[in-house]
Amino acid sequence: MSDLRSVVVTGAGQGLGRAVAEAFAAQGDAVVVSDVVADAAETVAAEIRDRGGSAVALACDVADEAAVAELAAGVVSEYGVPAVWINNAGITRPAMLHKMTVDDFDLVLRVHARGTFLGIREAARTMREGGAGGGVILNVTSSAGLQGTIGQINYSAAKGAIIAMTKSAAKELARHGIRVNAVAPVAATPMTARLRTDEKLSTKFLDQIPLGRFGTPEEIATAFTYLASPSSSYVTGQVLSIDGGLYMAS
Ligand SMILES: NC(=O)c1ccc[n+]([C@@H]2O[C@H](COP(=O)([O-])OP(=O)(O)OC[C@H]3O[C@@H](n4cnc5c(N)ncnc54)[C@H](O)[C@@H]3O)[C@@H](O)[C@H]2O)c1
Repeated sequence: MSDLRSVVVTGAGQGLGRAVAEAFAAQGDAVVVSDVVADAAETVAAEIRDRGGSAVALACDVADEAAVAELAAGVVSEYGVPAVWINNAGITRPAMLHKMTVDDFDLVLRVHARGTFLGIREAARTMREGGAGGGVILNVTSSAGLQGTIGQINYSAAKGAIIAMTKSAAKELARHGIRVNAVAPVAATPMTARLRTDEKLSTKFLDQIPLGRFGTPEEIATAFTYLASPSSSYVTGQVLSIDGGLYMAS
């Protein structure tokens, strides 16, 4: 078993999760690259190993209770008790309120709210039982969860739930030395492809961002490495917006 610090990242097959996995690997941590798309996770893990880093891929649907328990067991057997667990996996199913189906509402809540709950619970259990004396859990929310978004009532509800769960878990787990925080990003990833390429949508969105551009996944990843480092040892229950000023300006 490795004596490196072990870091789990869900939804790490592409986009932000991929950049976050790469950032932790680059600083010398052992990374579990997890995604519901097994091939994507394997590709990212293989690229990290090719660069001399330590990574394994473990497929997992974060909304599947048994699969998340299996992921935690896999992490422990590969790299020991996780020091950092990042609940990043996500999807969107946008539609205006009058057209939003119950299926799309449930699906988005299932991946984000249920998925983050299962991730927090499994991480906390594993960190506590492992006796490693603490840990860090990081969740991913959005300005949608802080202030609502037109055409995304499902995603806004799910991201709001993640903020509430971050605060509840931070209060409950502090006594075990486990810090819990959330990041609210804006980043150029496959998830925001339409928002970036549709000229009308893009102009309207960028007009709300004081810095006037999307963040790079690498710029967002630094928030995660900071929140998982001793530099943030007195930070818990917080939402860190890395969004070019979007939330502050609205
Ligand atoms: N990109 C942004 O501007 C932005 C803004 C706010 C919040 N976020 C959040 O950041 C996180 C990452 O988003 P992204 O932009 O990289 O998106 P993305 O679509 O590029 O990547 C999401 C990843 O999650 C995986 N995934 C989806 N459902 C899953 C499931 N059930 N189990 C496991 N993996 C699953 C996908 O396969 C994919 O690899 C998400 O939680 C998203 O809501 C992103």
